[in-house]
Amino acid sequence: MEFSTQTTAGLHQLRTAALGVGVFADGVLTPAAEALDMAAGGAIKAVVKSDFKGKANTHVVLRQLSGIKAERVIVVGLGKQKSYNAGAHAAAEQTFANACIGLDVNEAVSTLSSVECEGTSLRSRSRALALATLRATYRYDLTLSKDVEPAPRLKKITVWTSRANANEAKQGLHEGQAIGNGVNLTRLLGDMPPNLCTPTYLGETAKKLAKEFKTLKVEVLNRKQIEAEKMGAFLSVANGSDEPPVFIVLRHSPKGAKTRGKAPIVLVGKGLTFDSGGISIKPAANMDEMKYDMCGAASVLGTMRAVAELELDREVIGLVASCENMPSGRANKPGDVVTSMSGQTIEILNTDAEGRLVLCDALTYAERFKPEAVIDMATLTGACVVALGHVNSGLFTKDDALAEALVSAGREAGDTAWRMPLEDAYQEQLHSRFADMANIGGMPAGSVTAACFLSRYTTSYRWAHLDIAGTAWKSGKDKGATGRPVPLLVQFLLSQTGE
Ligand code: BES
Ligand code: MN
Ligand code: ZN
Repeated sequence: MEFSTQTTAGLHQLRTAALGVGVFADGVLTPAAEALDMAAGGAIKAVVKSDFKGKANTHVVLRQLSGIKAERVIVVGLGKQKSYNAGAHAAAEQTFANACIGLDVNEAVSTLSSVECEGTSLRSRSRALALATLRATYRYDLTLSKDVEPAPRLKKITVWTSRANANEAKQGLHEGQAIGNGVNLTRLLGDMPPNLCTPTYLGETAKKLAKEFKTLKVEVLNRKQIEAEKMGAFLSVANGSDEPPVFIVLRHSPKGAKTRGKAPIVLVGKGLTFDSGGISIKPAANMDEMKYDMCGAASVLGTMRAVAELELDREVIGLVASCENMPSGRANKPGDVVTSMSGQTIEILNTDAEGRLVLCDALTYAERFKPEAVIDMATLTGACVVALGHVNSGLFTKDDALAEALVSAGREAGDTAWRMPLEDAYQEQLHSRFADMANIGGMPAGSVTAACFLSRYTTSYRWAHLDIAGTAWKSGKDKGATGRPVPLLVQFLLSQTGE
């Protein structure tokens, strides 16, 4: 996909297959819509008076308007002007991008980012446009023998802007493109069936990224090497499956970043390519969705891709602990006590609480990088879905500054997280008579006790945990990975480099 800017003053002179302009729900035309309306002798106002109410997530296509060179004008509803914000703008760009794909045009021009709104800049609005476009072009067809829909022809999107602002818009487009490519990689890995997207495949994907981007270096540890690291908790999960586990270390080291003396930021992802529950096996209904239990890992890879494409001026290290959770004669079982890499022992009371077992060793591994901060993401608990639904990811940290930075990054990126409690008072639920801790804390506050478990492995650095069980994928007819929380993470990392 190519992204560019266009600085012609006379919008009506612009030759394009599709020209996007916004109209508010109260009938107020944006300046771009107003200009086109004038040139077209009131054609847009006429439609707004009759059929089109400017509601959010709606659009109307006007063809071959006299006085206008564009083949079509796509009038996009912006919703109420009073509540027009970053989210409403992103939704409008998405509506426009989806419409362009639906019309199967090969290029289009958007004026939507020229409409100012609170908490945004031209750069962030251009970023949203590029991200929306790439989202719209995503197709899952890897395992379909026939094309359900033909591949979209859309090749080029142009932002209409003033000459003075063109560079700011270009910067945003570049960022949105990197985020969009990261999001779509994360979605593809999530959507892939678990017989293809195995731990080994995730390792191969990391290696491919390291080949493609020169700032990336990769190491993929095999079972033997994982044993040598004494990751006893991770291995107790991996052992139940014939599919070999991997531990991925993917490092983005831009030139000179180290010499500026900033410690790296480490991202850690849960990479269960399938979670059957193990001996504590899950019910059959919807168990296929547990192929998405590697979405934390996929978002680490997607974020690393974005960081590399952006050549972010900061060392970032992605860690992925990946295996399957299966019942077998070698599987861990309720009552087992295992020793984690940290030396702490764990009584496994439910083999379905495997994410924390895998993550705790990855979090211990992270210590060696003397990180500035560690952020893990995991489809960790059904309880988090109960608490927050599919709107917000759950954010757990004791570090107020880190919480604030992540929450505001999420808000700015339209990929929101909601802070949850992580008080010591919950820790007692993890009490075990036979080990240093149990791997479950009972029904109450299930997502909090899972985070409490992880907190016992993160005492030597600043740490935050994102529970993405409710946000990483959608169920139902439109089942599919969302690519969250890649936008939040990239936004956070950009903010950490002062961008
Ligand atoms: N991967 C699941 C969490 C999950 C379940 C995410 C459903 C999204 C939808 C995790 O490994 C798990 O099974 N957690 C258990 C923990 C429980 C046994 C303490 C859960 O949430 O039921
Ligand atoms: Mn589980
Ligand atoms: Zn799981």
